Amino acid sequence: AKTTLLAPSILSADFTQLGNSIQLAEKAGADWLHCDVMDGHFVPNITFGPFIIQAIAKCSSMTIDTHLMISDPDRYIPDFIKAGSHQVTVHQETCPHLHRSVQLIKSLGAKAGVSINPGTPISTLEAIIGELDMVLLMSVNPGFGGQKFIPSSVEKIKKLHEMRNAMNPDMVIAVDGGVTVDNAQELVSAGADALIAGTAFFKAENPAEAAAQIKSASR
Ligand code: DX5
Ligand code: ZN
Repeated sequence: AKTTLLAPSILSADFTQLGNSIQLAEKAGADWLHCDVMDGHFVPNITFGPFIIQAIAKCSSMTIDTHLMISDPDRYIPDFIKAGSHQVTVHQETCPHLHRSVQLIKSLGAKAGVSINPGTPISTLEAIIGELDMVLLMSVNPGFGGQKFIPSSVEKIKKLHEMRNAMNPDMVIAVDGGVTVDNAQELVSAGADALIAGTAFFKAENPAEAAAQIKSASR
């Protein structure tokens, strides 16, 4: 059985205590640090850009997992990789030339992920899945932390798991949005390898314990 990768989302951390929050995640055994970049255009919220990623990358030894919820991501991919992102995920919905965007990420030495919204079917990934290091399946509508997990996402994880096994067995399936200590095992059983957790980690009474519980989910 494989253990689950845990990626706390810095979006739910206390930004006046960013260094401490990063240490908290690292000490809790987090594998990646998930960084949510929002532009107020593709999603109805604005967060941060390469400048903050650079500061975060400097004081962390975790994999910097950058989730670009921005229009025209090709424009900024080089900046985010220069800033220290090890993995960059773009949204299928923002990329008219998805293959080109994915190749751009890989050509700059980072791992490439593609994310899809809850309303976007798995079938839109069929032509690109062989090129991907990761699919980031959104289980809430992107824009905010602390939303409720959309139950129909479980079926999408199962479908993606089948597609991955057939077409690209090494590809990682990450699930993002509304992940909790209570649903972690169900998501991993369905096919998730990595779980993104904002609220469930940073707002937990005992984040280290929450991390251990989420990571103990296995398949
Ligand atoms: C949502 C972001 C998520 C979010 C997850 O737009 O992409 O990564 O931070 O937060 P929780 O775990 O609180 O749903
Ligand atoms: Zn995210």
